[in-house]
Amino acid sequence: MRMHPDVLHLTLLLLFTNLLQPTYATAKFTVKACVATSLTDSCTLQTVGTKIVAQPVDTSSTKCEDTVDQKGSVTWADLILPVGKVLLVEVQTKVASQTSGGGFFVRPSRKTREWGKPTVANKKASFYLADKGQFSVEFASQEYWQAEPALSFDALMLFVNPELVNPVPSGATVISDSDSSALVDLGPNKNYVFSADNTYDWGADKVFKVHDNTEIHFEAGAHVRARIVQTEKKVENVLISGYGTLDTHYDLEPDVVGVSDDATHQTIGIYGKNIRVVGLTIVNTNPTCAAWGYCLNINANWSPIGVAGDPFEADELQDQTMPAPTYKTRQAHCQEKNMDDSDNTNFDNCPTSHEDGQTVSFVKCMTWQMGQDGINAGKYGTVENSFVRVIDDAIKPWDSHGVYKNITIWQQALGWPINFGWWNWNQPDLGTVVEDIYVIHNHNWHTSAGWPETASGQCVIGGIYGSGSVKSGYKLKNIYVETAASCAVGLEISKSAYSRHPTADGCVGSIVGIEIDGLFFDEEFKTGTGYGNYLSGETSPYGTCTGDLSGEIKNLKISSNVAGRGLLVSDFTVVAGVIGLDLSKAVDGQAVGLEKYVLYEGKNTYVGAGAEVETDVNGVVVGSVLQCLERCHCDWSCDCVVWDAVGGECSKRQGGGNFGI
Ligand SMILES: *[C@@H]1O[C@H](CO)[C@@H](O)[C@H](O)[C@H]1NC(C)=O
Repeated sequence: MRMHPDVLHLTLLLLFTNLLQPTYATAKFTVKACVATSLTDSCTLQTVGTKIVAQPVDTSSTKCEDTVDQKGSVTWADLILPVGKVLLVEVQTKVASQTSGGGFFVRPSRKTREWGKPTVANKKASFYLADKGQFSVEFASQEYWQAEPALSFDALMLFVNPELVNPVPSGATVISDSDSSALVDLGPNKNYVFSADNTYDWGADKVFKVHDNTEIHFEAGAHVRARIVQTEKKVENVLISGYGTLDTHYDLEPDVVGVSDDATHQTIGIYGKNIRVVGLTIVNTNPTCAAWGYCLNINANWSPIGVAGDPFEADELQDQTMPAPTYKTRQAHCQEKNMDDSDNTNFDNCPTSHEDGQTVSFVKCMTWQMGQDGINAGKYGTVENSFVRVIDDAIKPWDSHGVYKNITIWQQALGWPINFGWWNWNQPDLGTVVEDIYVIHNHNWHTSAGWPETASGQCVIGGIYGSGSVKSGYKLKNIYVETAASCAVGLEISKSAYSRHPTADGCVGSIVGIEIDGLFFDEEFKTGTGYGNYLSGETSPYGTCTGDLSGEIKNLKISSNVAGRGLLVSDFTVVAGVIGLDLSKAVDGQAVGLEKYVLYEGKNTYVGAGAEVETDVNGVVVGSVLQCLERCHCDWSCDCVVWDAVGGECSKRQGGGNFGI
């Protein structure tokens, strides 16, 4: 079925035309879209404004560890999908090296591949997007992501958003772009809006400190070079909402408490309850080799409440000369213990359930420097329908009762897409759920051989855990990895982890009863030396560290499918302290049915004999005919495959349908 976008129908135009202007004179893509009533309907395409960020550090002249060789750019557009409708989209790539000759993908392809069949030309394609989410449009082959040029890809992301349920309240104060103070208080009990017409760039770091009962709205297309924080107290009822951009662009002053100390190195960093962040795009366009930080962290379980005159330094947790660092007496916000493990007695404005826990939805986090992490929404936090593209740990389920669902991750040259924590303070860490995660790309094979230093493998799930908290009962379900990845699980528990918070005796908590129900890799791991699947508990716990503080990985259950096979014990380096590892093969409920394709037994097709384009000239060896069909089905430029059952070679073909030669 091919569609015809030239048939005109009534258009419901809810796209942000004109509001978003390309930052660069030469656009890398043109995007047109319109709202249609169904996958067979059409509408009148309208040009959509795009924005672009490129690697902000000039890697040609600056030798900066922070870039980890990551180059390229992301062009993006925010689109609105009204309930019950679909979007018809036409994309043209202007990037010289991009063509559909080797394939055309709109990822996550598991979501898009049933939405009809697009029209794909050499540098142009039109297709439908029938659900909300974040979609990568790629004129590139499947194999492209296995090699270094992938680090320089010019990406196009289409963010398909819902209509906002919280409009800008009438009477909201328009935030001025001329007030030059470095710190501006917002609230309490007030509503604000960043206007798309203003130029929010003050030439230096700018912080908005948010207070109770405060709404901060972004008009569609508003671009604000600032950060929004509150780490000196716990606040309640904060809404940050809108399809605008919050951009950390300038170096932070060193160590100003509540502004730029290590607890506050976040584009959004807030302590409190009922904090909601909706729709925002968070970027870091700082062109210098910048310090570490996060896109978003609410109730960070590794940082204290800021106290005037005594900035928190993350280095306080690094002393490796004693069983445990000598912790200062620092006041917890919502953690059960203070930093020195004394009891916290003040839980004002702390979430007690998902009802008053923080929610992060339709947020997009895109940063370009090592040490700029993604999203951690803390205890009772929910992160949903969001996108993370970073060169460090992407999502960080580090705390009890978190929910991370429907998240698309593009992991760049370093980091764990799903990171299990480093330096959580001592308190139970249980019952978090991570479900429906689409890792559309994973370039961390680029650094996996040398990082982390302990050879524990920088895989899709894992970390080097150095906390006295016992982590238990986490459930991960349906983690889909679409392209090249180093390995599945690389998890180590270590009392000498670089960032650590062991108990006062130097004990690290065990990780108990984690269940990974469905971890799917569309391709075999990208082979390389110095990395791989790895599991290790603490290799030599102190004598006083017993029971759940002995640092073991206990009863880890992994149901997986790596290009048709389940992970086996032989796939792992298992060092010490791993008890009750349970591995099984998973079935991908979203795998295509063979019945959709017609079998022509004993036939071939090639250019001149049915096919118009031989997408895979040489073919690729795969494990099964089903996997061969999967390769074709997720590539929207592919119409059929030639499968050689003897050698396992799979070749994709395009053509008008006259196959079976
Ligand atoms: C993810 O989103 C889809 C709709 O796009 C929905 O059907 C599914 O239930 C969501 N997953 C979770 C875990 O809520």
